[in-house]
Amino acid sequence: MKYAARIIDITKEYPLKGETVHALRGVSFDVPFGDYVAIMGPSGSGKSTLLNLLGCLDKPTSGQLLLEDDDIGALNDDELATVRASRIGFVFQSYNLIQQLTVLENIQVPLFYLGRLGAAERIRCEEIADLVGLKDRLKHRPAQLSGGQQQRVAIARSLVNAPNFILADEATGNLDSVTTEEIMGLFEKLNNEGRTIIMVTHEDEVSAHAKRVVRLRDGLLQSDIINENRELLLPPNTRIKDTIPADHA
Ligand SMILES: Nc1ncnc2c1ncn2[C@@H]1O[C@H](COP(=O)(O)OP(=O)(O)O)[C@@H](O)[C@H]1O
Ligand SMILES: [Mg+2]
Repeated sequence: MKYAARIIDITKEYPLKGETVHALRGVSFDVPFGDYVAIMGPSGSGKSTLLNLLGCLDKPTSGQLLLEDDDIGALNDDELATVRASRIGFVFQSYNLIQQLTVLENIQVPLFYLGRLGAAERIRCEEIADLVGLKDRLKHRPAQLSGGQQQRVAIARSLVNAPNFILADEATGNLDSVTTEEIMGLFEKLNNEGRTIIMVTHEDEVSAHAKRVVRLRDGLLQSDIINENRELLLPPNTRIKDTIPADHA
C-alpha cells in the first residue's frame, strides 16, 4: 500500500433541471502517504466535488477512487459511512457545528455515531480540546465563540477518530489572517504526525504551506506542482502531541 489515495480518471456529473453538469471530466493523480496537498482553481472548477469524493460523501460517476487500496466506488452506503467515520476527518468552511450542543459535546459527535463514547473517549475528547486550545471553552455553545474558535472545535471534532486523512474545504475561508496562521500551524503539526492532508483553498497564503499544489480548471487537472518554497510555520517535526495514537480507530 503505497498511496493514501489514488484518483484514476474520475468524472462526476450532476443532473440539473434536465441537463447534466460535468463537474469533473477525467481527473487523475496519486496522493502518497503523509502528503499535504492544496487543491486550487476558480470557483466552479470542481474542487469541492473532488474533496467530497475523497471524503466518501459521494461516489464518482466513472473512474476509480482508491483510499488506502479500498475501491470507494465498490462500497455500499454503510461501508462508505464506516470509512468516513473511522478514517477521515472533514473540516468545512462553515464549521457545521450543532448549535444546541456544547463545545465538548460537538467534539464527541463522531464517537457518539460510532457507538464508542465511553469514559476513556470522554477524557480523550477533553485532551483534544486542550490540544487545539479550547480547554476553557468546553461548556460554551458555538454562538458564544469566535469564528476561529468554532473552526478549532470543528478541527478537534475531525480528530477524535484519529483519522489518517484530513480533508478541509476552505477551512480558513471565514477567518482573519492571524487565526488562519494558527489553523495552518495545527495542520502542519498534524501532517508532521504522518496524517495526509488535502485542503481546498483559493488563497495563496494558505496553499503556501502545502507540500504540493494541484490546480483544477473546468473539471480538469490543470497543473500539479511540488511547492519548492513551502512556508513552514513551526520548527521541523513539531507535533500536536504524541498522545493521539495513529491507530486509535
Ligand atoms: N449538487 C449539485 N448539483 C448540480 N450541480 C452541482 C452540484 N454540486 C456542484 N455542482 C456544479 O458542479 C460544478 C463544480 O462545483 P464545485 O465542485 O462546487 O466547484 P468549486 O468547489 O471548485 O467551486 C459547478 O458548476 C457547480 O455548479
Ligand atoms: Mg467549493
